[in-house]
Amino acid sequence: MKALILSGVKGTRLRPITHTSAKQLVPIANKPILFYALEAIAEAKIQEVGVVVGDTKREIQEAVGDGARWGLQVSYIEQQAPLGLAHAVKIAEPFLGNQPFVMYLGDNLVKDGIRSLVEEFMRLRPNSQILLARVRDPQRFGVAELREGRVVSLEEKPAYPKSDLALVGVYMFDKTIFEAVHAIKPSERGELEITDAIQYLIDKGYEVHPHVISGWWKDTGKLEDMLEANRIMLEAITSRVEGEVDEASHLIGKVVVEQGAKIVASTVRGPVIIGKCCRIVNSYIGPFTSIYHDTLVQNSEIEHSIILDRSRITDIGRLEDSLIGKNVEVFRSDGKPRAYRLMLGDSSQVGLV
Ligand code: DAU
Repeated sequence: MKALILSGVKGTRLRPITHTSAKQLVPIANKPILFYALEAIAEAKIQEVGVVVGDTKREIQEAVGDGARWGLQVSYIEQQAPLGLAHAVKIAEPFLGNQPFVMYLGDNLVKDGIRSLVEEFMRLRPNSQILLARVRDPQRFGVAELREGRVVSLEEKPAYPKSDLALVGVYMFDKTIFEAVHAIKPSERGELEITDAIQYLIDKGYEVHPHVISGWWKDTGKLEDMLEANRIMLEAITSRVEGEVDEASHLIGKVVVEQGAKIVASTVRGPVIIGKCCRIVNSYIGPFTSIYHDTLVQNSEIEHSIILDRSRITDIGRLEDSLIGKNVEVFRSDGKPRAYRLMLGDSSQVGLV
């Protein structure tokens, strides 16, 4: 069995972060989202992985390399444009050959992994196995309609969903999916939809096995989803202090301080991760915050946020519910007149009080 991870296309809902970086590399609890997928695949005992990449190819290749770190053999498959999930399957056909495979969307997180699901697929050997989860906002997803435990229809982001069962971004297929991706036509939004390809399998009488998952799953497409994912992953950490914490500082609850980080005259209330070589000085870091490497927080308070690498947050009041990119500076300006002075990328969002 092989695996196909989809890590192409620039996300639009996380702009401006995704103007410059791959959304699949945003760290959740200080680990890039994509790495959770690679770990889940390795844990399911699959070794050969094809990663579909687009504009952000270089960055993804630099982060993942040849996959040896996870005991995987990773190859890269270039997609010239984001023409749809089924298009990605189409261009991956030479890599996948006749083998059954699991397709994993690189911005999805499935907390309990996929090992038992892959085993179930290999035991039952349907033509496809899809994972479904009950959601409150099915309009945002592919939606399945089940009758007596069988899938009867699938619709991509329907305005009037027939159920609350969303398609999770992990799918298992055998080679019949290639017949489907060659037969279907682009949707109204110009994409070859995987939902249409699976609908083709159903219409042709192939077996599509639905598995409704009960564990936690997230499509990390939006800021709130990222913060929730960060919260869930931070809840599972165990305290570890590899950096330095001075006597005037307090660590409360589950806190990870990575190598080379320094906590000076600060209070950190977990669950929190402070990344390598960060400096937290005279500050408060509150629950559900992840601070990636080489970032400085000075004379400030941060809670329920994700801060990426090499940023500087100094002398500000309190920051909450935020996602701050790389190399960002947030500081108090003493210049007169007293005013907000901003340099924000396209599609940035700022909430002022
Ligand atoms: O997250 C689950 C949902 O994922 C499903 O419920 C939907 O049925 C499915 O279509 C998909 O919807 P999204 O709108 O979330 O897909 P998105 O465009 O965000 O792409 C998902 C991942 O696949 C993302 O990591 C980018 C990558 N991708 C996407 C396209 C369209 C590619 O690599 N190539 C592509 O052409």
